Amino acid sequence: MAFNLIRRRTKSGQVVVVTGASAGIGRATAQLLGQRGAHVGLLARGEKGLEAAAAEVKEAGGEALTIPTDVSDYGAVDEAANRVEERFGPIDAWINVAFTSVFAPFAQIEPDEFRRVTEVTYLGFVYGTMAALKRMLPRDSGVIVQVGSALGNRAIPLQSAYCGAKHAVNGFTESLRTELLHDGSKVRVTVVQMPAVNTPQFSWVLSRLGKHPQPVPPIYQPEVAARGVIHALDHPRRKQYWVGASTVATISGQRVAPALLDRYLARNGYSSQQTDQPISSGRPANLWEPLDGPGGRDFGAHGVFDDQAHGHSPQFWAVRHRLSLVGGALAAGALAASDWGRRHLQQ
Ligand SMILES: NC(=O)c1ccc[n+]([C@@H]2O[C@H](COP(=O)([O-])OP(=O)(O)OC[C@H]3O[C@@H](n4cnc5c(N)ncnc54)[C@H](OP(=O)(O)O)[C@@H]3O)[C@@H](O)[C@H]2O)c1
Repeated sequence: MAFNLIRRRTKSGQVVVVTGASAGIGRATAQLLGQRGAHVGLLARGEKGLEAAAAEVKEAGGEALTIPTDVSDYGAVDEAANRVEERFGPIDAWINVAFTSVFAPFAQIEPDEFRRVTEVTYLGFVYGTMAALKRMLPRDSGVIVQVGSALGNRAIPLQSAYCGAKHAVNGFTESLRTELLHDGSKVRVTVVQMPAVNTPQFSWVLSRLGKHPQPVPPIYQPEVAARGVIHALDHPRRKQYWVGASTVATISGQRVAPALLDRYLARNGYSSQQTDQPISSGRPANLWEPLDGPGGRDFGAHGVFDDQAHGHSPQFWAVRHRLSLVGGALAAGALAASDWGRRHLQQ
């Protein structure tokens, strides 16, 4: 027990579960956790991606356990949590990342497809949170990080199922947070709202668009998102983090002028989500089965937009360093005031 308490206060040896760990933001997050020597439970369906993620975690200095899991199945998620604890001990943190989507006008999405997106992208987060709380509440200790999206505050066209699910993640998490506060619990839950990120989703999500889907610029690299997740994990008292100036602009714009944004997105939201490159309507998709499973390939953390993606976010750098920035501003203010006082006293 004493050993666990000591271990939890150090980042090395932290036991962390990451869902959606085989690709994209989850994969980049797992790599950063490996660098701090964490013990990481890697959940997703695709075994090729999971194995490659585990190799990266170990190479970086951490320990990894791959558990092929479909997050839309609560029993499988709960069993995965058991396996992580059997191998590494009590789970300190749970990071919900796994998702899927359909890029299409709402009228072109079938009911079973809409349900599948909801079951993975919304209920997958609910089930991950349930499995984590089942273990964290009795210990009165633990952190849950939800990887959210600016689109969970401001919906856009061609992503109705996804936007609905991301709004729902915010809703249930807010409710849960009030319950934890009511109970005086030390378990923390926080959400990291992401901007557009260069991940494999644009190459493997089911699409009925004529052109290759793209994240709406500005595009950030998955490592920027992963640094946001890690910061939230280390500072989980805050309700939400916003990563990227575009996330700040989107969420703030929605608060000020939502109807104006409706018209702006109606005009620009179709073209801004597609490149000029045509794609076939039969493009393989990861909605029902993983593309990085047997016979598939590892897609990695990055998507196909490396040439356009930013490796840093000055906005989030300022969030991470806000104490130093505030301290610096106070020190500069104190210096200016003392200089002003000295000059006026000398007059
Ligand atoms: N990329 C962006 O522009 C962006 C922007 C804002 C927010 N986000 C958020 O970031 C998170 C990750 O997005 P991403 O772009 O990194 O996605 P991604 O590249 O498509 O990766 C999705 C991950 O989820 C896993 N997954 C999919 N279906 C699953 C299922 N049924 N069960 C278990 N795992 C499943 C995938 O692995 P398998 O297929 O192998 O299972 C993969 O590891 C999502 O929550 C998304 O909402 C992304």
